[in-house]
Formats: sequence, structure tokens, C-alpha cells
Amino acid sequence: MSKLEKLDYLSKFLGDPEKIKERFKDFWHQDLDQQKVFDDFSENTLTNYFFPYGVMPNLLLNNKTYCVPMVIEESSVVAAAANAANFWLKRGGVKSEVISTQKVGQVHFSWQGEKDELFSLFKIWKRELMDKVLPLTHTMRNRGGGLLDLILKETGPEDPSLYQLFVTFETCDAMGANFINTVLEALARELVNLNKQIEIIMAILSNYTPNCLVRSFVECRVEDLVDPKLGLSSEKFIYKFNQALKISHMDTYRATTHNKGIFNGIDAVILATGNDFRAVESCGHAYASREGRYKGLSELSLKDGKFKFSLEMPLSLGTVGGLTSLHPLAKTSLELLGHPSAKELMMIASSVGLLQNFAAIKSLVTSGIQKGHMKMHLLNILNQLDATEEEHERVKNHFCDKVISFKDVRDYLRTIH
Ligand code: MEV
Repeated sequence: MSKLEKLDYLSKFLGDPEKIKERFKDFWHQDLDQQKVFDDFSENTLTNYFFPYGVMPNLLLNNKTYCVPMVIEESSVVAAAANAANFWLKRGGVKSEVISTQKVGQVHFSWQGEKDELFSLFKIWKRELMDKVLPLTHTMRNRGGGLLDLILKETGPEDPSLYQLFVTFETCDAMGANFINTVLEALARELVNLNKQIEIIMAILSNYTPNCLVRSFVECRVEDLVDPKLGLSSEKFIYKFNQALKISHMDTYRATTHNKGIFNGIDAVILATGNDFRAVESCGHAYASREGRYKGLSELSLKDGKFKFSLEMPLSLGTVGGLTSLHPLAKTSLELLGHPSAKELMMIASSVGLLQNFAAIKSLVTSGIQKGHMKMHLLNILNQLDATEEEHERVKNHFCDKVISFKDVRDYLRTIH
């Protein structure tokens, strides 16, 4: 079916077919060529789904200032990140470094023979396998990347017949999923050619990239944390902040929410720049469990009178290829960031995650998050109730010192008519 036929068919099952069809069409791009680009991203596309695209200004990162695009629907996330960026702008900004950029792929296979035989055969095969895929890695090698290494591993004691080629790659400014999967599938074919006893199970990149790592931190002298808006002495603030970090390392329930706050920032940048937030999240959560227990990803150190808050995590990102060059707003986001390399984008995204986490913990241990949230929540309620500009002002004044609920706002609106 064509897109219109699909819409006609589907809308028949809904209350008011004409109205539903119009609603879907309302969100089509006016420029049909542009719409075609979106339609072709995925299958069975009916329309586009809007999310707010905002910016976090004033990210001072490694002495350079960025205005960071963020795509997120949750109220207060951009405001909180912007607030933290401003706070640290006056205290030296964020420092960040990329520690490593290695990507991973696996060819899983089964081998019913002797383990020692396979390992000695692999010593002979390794060079041949690597040579066979050279034509596929040519362009990437010219860019400074390619296939780094290939090792044979047993997959685990649960099934001794399962082995894998564990392959490492450097993909430069590309996230590299297509490149990696193409090379892995070629390696799988070559492996079977080398020995018919091998049965390939699957060949696929791994989204767990613990060696594609970035570290960001903010640091200042304890006395420089003083901020009248905190409503706490800096000693008390640091004490509670430190306890909050400890809890995130001790308790999975808290760690999950703590890391969710980090991903509020990271995902928003990932989405704005056309990267894969599912890959980044699954990797981040696996990394958070690397010691056998799921923990908060950030760390606080208090040494020599200094407050140092840091975040080290894997981020596998690209600034060329894929959606980054197809989605018009992803392209614009990269332009807004000054056409960063993948490494620079890793540092930007991790800084936003760190700042977001700082903002969340700061509010949680001081005023609580509802204060900031409720302002935006009120706005959403007023929009839902189609309130006029004048009503917005009156309701905001009325609720400035009250607890907000949908019912109370609706009832108050009724009283002012
Ligand atoms: C809300 O989206 C995120 C927070 O819950 C994060 C946190 O608790 O650290 C505020």
C-alpha cells in the first residue's frame, strides 16, 4: 500500500476517519522531497512525530564555549542542564578527554572438535582472515581506522562448543555499524571456507564498547562552591552531595534513577545529532554493571580542599554517515557545534550528562526537584486547557506558592471566567 492507502485503511478503524487522517497529515513536511527523506528512514511511515529541539548555551568545555542542541520532551531537563552549565561556567567549566575509541564486533560459531586443535588452527588462519577483508577496510584505513585485531575466544563454560572471533575496530568519525557488520559477515564467510566443521551462528557488532571511553569532570575549591541560591552552606551541600553519590553506588534502585538523569542529558544530545541512543544507553548500563553490581556512573572526589565531580563512560558516536548526514536537523546540530569530530562529540555529550547529573543531585539535596518541575508542569497543564496569555499570567501568580494539580488549575481557571 502507498502511504495514503495505509492511512485510509487504518483510519477506518478509528472514531472519525477524516479527522484522524488530517491529524496525521498535519505533521507531514510541507516540502514533499523532505518528507520523502523522513519516509525512507523507516518502514510503514505514516507521519512525523514532533519533539522539542532546544539548546543548552554556555557549555564551557576544555576552554571552548558551545551552545549544545538537545532534543527531549521532558520538562526541566534543558533548564537544569543550562543552569548547571552556567554554574560551572563561573568555575572553570568542564574538562574532558577521550581515553579510547575502540569498537567491537563478534562472529559467533560452534565447533564440535577439540579446543586445542581450533586454537592452533586459528594461529594459521588469523593472518589469512585479516588479509581477506583488506579490500573492505581500504577506505576506513585511508581515514586512519580499520580492523585492529582479531582474537579467538571461548564464549563461556555453559556451552563449550561455542566460540567467537572477537574483532576490534577503529572507525574514526563514523559510528561504524555498517562497516563493522559488513566486515564481520565477510569474516564469517571466510571462516567457513577455511573449515567446513565450523557452523556460524551469527556475526554482529557489539554495542558494549568499554574501550570507547570518555572522561569528563568539573572541579573547584570547596569554598568556591558557595552559592546563595543553594540555601545551604557549602559544607552541608558537599556532605549531602557526597552521600547522594554513595547511595548511587550502593543501591540499584537509586543507581538506576541516578543514571537516568545522566542519560536525560546524553540522550538529548544523541538524538539532536542523529546518533543511536539505544546503543549508547545499553552500553552505558552494561558499563555501570562492570563490577558485578549496577552502580551510578559518576564519582565524587574530595581531596586537598577540592570538589571534583566526574563521569567516565563509554560513548560510541559518529559525526559522519548514517542519520547524521541525512536528517536535516542532525546536520544543523553538528553545524551548531562547529562540525565536531566523533571524539569532540563524545566529550560534549558526556559533559552534558555530567552537568545534568550535577543539576539533578544539586536540586535533590537542596530544594527537591518538584519546585523546578512544577513551573513547567503548570505550563503543560495550561496548554492542555487552552488557557489564554492573560489566564497564563493569572494562574502563574495564583499558584506561585501552591502545590499544583491538574484539577486545582482547571478549577481555578473556572473561577476567573
Ligand atoms: C528525572 O528525569 C531525573 C532525575 O530523577 C534524576 C535523579 O534523580 O538523579 C531527577
